[in-house]
Amino acid sequence: MSLINASSLSFATVPSENDHKLNKADLDLTLDRYTDMLTTCPKDKGWVSENLYMYKGFWHFNFSYGVFSLEAMMSMQDTFQAQPTDIYLITLPKSGTTWIKALAYAIVNRERYKNNTLSSHPLLTYNPHKCVPFLESEVFGKTSVYVDGCLSRLFATHIPYSSLPKSILDSGCRIVYMCRNPKDVLVSLFHFTNKLRDKSRCRMAFDEAFEMFSKGVMPYGPYWDHVKAYYNFSLKHPNNILFLTYEDMKENTVNKVKLLAEFLGCAFTKEEEARGVVDEIVRLCSFKKLSEVNKHGDFSEGVPNDAFFREGKVGDWRSHLTNEMTKVLNQITKEKFHGLDISFEVGALVRN
Ligand code: A3P
Repeated sequence: MSLINASSLSFATVPSENDHKLNKADLDLTLDRYTDMLTTCPKDKGWVSENLYMYKGFWHFNFSYGVFSLEAMMSMQDTFQAQPTDIYLITLPKSGTTWIKALAYAIVNRERYKNNTLSSHPLLTYNPHKCVPFLESEVFGKTSVYVDGCLSRLFATHIPYSSLPKSILDSGCRIVYMCRNPKDVLVSLFHFTNKLRDKSRCRMAFDEAFEMFSKGVMPYGPYWDHVKAYYNFSLKHPNNILFLTYEDMKENTVNKVKLLAEFLGCAFTKEEEARGVVDEIVRLCSFKKLSEVNKHGDFSEGVPNDAFFREGKVGDWRSHLTNEMTKVLNQITKEKFHGLDISFEVGALVRN
C-alpha cells in the first residue's frame, strides 16, 4: 500500500482536476486493509449515515458514508506524519469547527492579506472548510483545498484522543480543542442531520436525537468522553494544547482571538491592535459575515454551504429541550465531568 503522505497535499487556488482523487488503487488497498476490522465493531443506528461503528470506545462512520470514515481514520493513524510546527484544530461536530477554522486561518495567514483589501480574502469566497482540511477527509482523500499555500500546516480533525495519529501527540505541535455545551451540540446536530438527510430517509424526530445523544451515540461521540480525554491531555500538556469553549469564544471573542494568536505563536503586535487588525479578523469570521458568504452553493455533493451556519447562538437548547430532557443531560454532564473544571457558563448566566 502506498503511504498517504501529508507533504503531498496540494493547495490550489482553484478546484483542480485532481480534486477528490485519492488514486482508486490506493483507496481500494486501504479499504481492503481496514474493512475487515469493521466487521468486528459494534454497530448502532446513525444520524446522517445509516449506521455508526464503535472503535476504541467511540462512534464512527464507515466508508460507505464517504472519506470521513473509520477506515480513513485508521489509515491516518498508521501513515500520517505530523511536524512540530503543525497546528491541529480539534472539535466534536457542531461545536464551532467552522468558526475556529476561519479564525485560525485568518490569524495565521494575516500577513499575506495585509496589503490587500479584505475583499480579496479567501474566507470571503470559500467555505472555511475549504481553507483548513480535515485529516480524516481531505488529507486522507488527497483532496486539494482551494486556498493557496497556508503559512503553517493547519489541519482540523474530529478524531478522539485515543485514536489520534501518534505522531501528532509525539511531535509536540500545537493543538486547539474547542468544545460546546452538550445541549447546544445536540440541537445543532439534530438540525444538521435533518438538513443533510436525503429524501430516501425520513426526518429525524428530536426525541430520537435526544435518546441517541444521551446514550453517547453520535459521530465521534460519546460527547463527554471526547471532551474529557482532551481536557485531561490539556492538563498534562498545557503548553501544547489550548482548551476553549464555544461559549467563552462567543462572550469574549476579542480576548480569545488574541489568546489564540499568542498560542499559535503569532501574537498580535501593539501596532496591529492599534490598526484594528484583531477587530477586522473577528468581523471577517463572524457568524453574520460567514453565513452571508456561504448563503449559496454546495460544499460537496448533498452538503450545501449554508448547512454549517444556522443560528450561531449560545443556549438555543432552551427552545428544544423539555425540562425532563434538560435534567437528564445535566445529570450525565455532572457525573461525567465530575472534578473537571469545564464550564459553559457565560457571564452571570448559568447555562448548564
Ligand atoms: P447552531 O446549529 O447552533 O447554529 P460546526 O462548525 O462544528 O459544524 O458547528 C456548527 C455550529 O456553529 C452551528 O451552530 C453554526 O451556526 C455555528 N457557527 C458557524 N459559524 C459560526 C461563527 N462564525 N460564529 C459562531 N457560530 C458559528
